[in-house]
Amino acid sequence: MEFSEQKIGEQFQEETKYARSPHWPISSAKKSLPRPLKPSSPQLISLSQPHLDNGPNLWKVLLHRRSIREYSQVPLSLEELSNLLWATQGITAKASLPWYRTAPSAGALHPIDSYLVVNRVERLEPGIYFLRVQDFSLEVKNKGDFSRQIAQAALDQQMAQAAAVVFVWVGVIRRCRQKYRQRAYRYVYLDCGHLGQNLYLAATAMNLGCCGIAAFYDDEVNELVGVDGHEETAIYLATVGRKESSSNTCLQ
Ligand SMILES: Cc1cc2nc3c(=O)[nH]c(=O)nc-3n(C[C@H](O)[C@H](O)[C@H](O)COP(=O)(O)O)c2cc1C
Repeated sequence: MEFSEQKIGEQFQEETKYARSPHWPISSAKKSLPRPLKPSSPQLISLSQPHLDNGPNLWKVLLHRRSIREYSQVPLSLEELSNLLWATQGITAKASLPWYRTAPSAGALHPIDSYLVVNRVERLEPGIYFLRVQDFSLEVKNKGDFSRQIAQAALDQQMAQAAAVVFVWVGVIRRCRQKYRQRAYRYVYLDCGHLGQNLYLAATAMNLGCCGIAAFYDDEVNELVGVDGHEETAIYLATVGRKESSSNTCLQ
């Protein structure tokens, strides 16, 4: 029966959530979060394709990859953000369906959606954006400064407030469960890990700082980006920003 088949996966999802409580992990009153708007005709921002011949040697990038948690206040350019998004979810082969991307995905189902909390990116107003992979553009979800909310939702990790942008990867469970049933709950996390490493490597290659974040209050992040937390739920976050000059490493 479909319900009992799904039980353990959903139980796993629910019972591994962080939620604010007086006991664990950090007590503080739940902050009121703005409800994202869902515009009927979305405002779109086109992204640029990367210049594939530029960049340092892959082996040096692997050698220098590090989690960087301190960022300067200098914004990212929209081109840099485009490169990071392409590295995580860019389409690389359109010959036939499914379209293939820079990161692998079980059954090429690609169950991860990318949301961004933009704090400081040139030519983008601060706010919450959604990556439309098919036409490589950003859809505006909600304009405003959400830097404090995303840091609070990330167990008060200040790097999320200081970062130029916070990636929020949301698992659209149904997309994978239709084929793989309970096994899908593993694959969604594995797929997301691939996106995370691609982002780390692209950021390193571009001399930017990056840090993965899996410690967050699930419901608060879900509410911030406007997903239900069950069929669509935040899996992993990552911050990116310009490094402080003291931690610069030039790879070229
Ligand atoms: C799944 C995952 C979750 C992580 N969550 C956090 C986090 O919430 N906060 C944080 O500061 N670092 C986080 N990190 C970064 C790790 O702390 C970091 O990778 C580790 O200390 C090793 O350092 P390195 O990445 O520089 O090699 C996370 C990394 C991974 C892979």
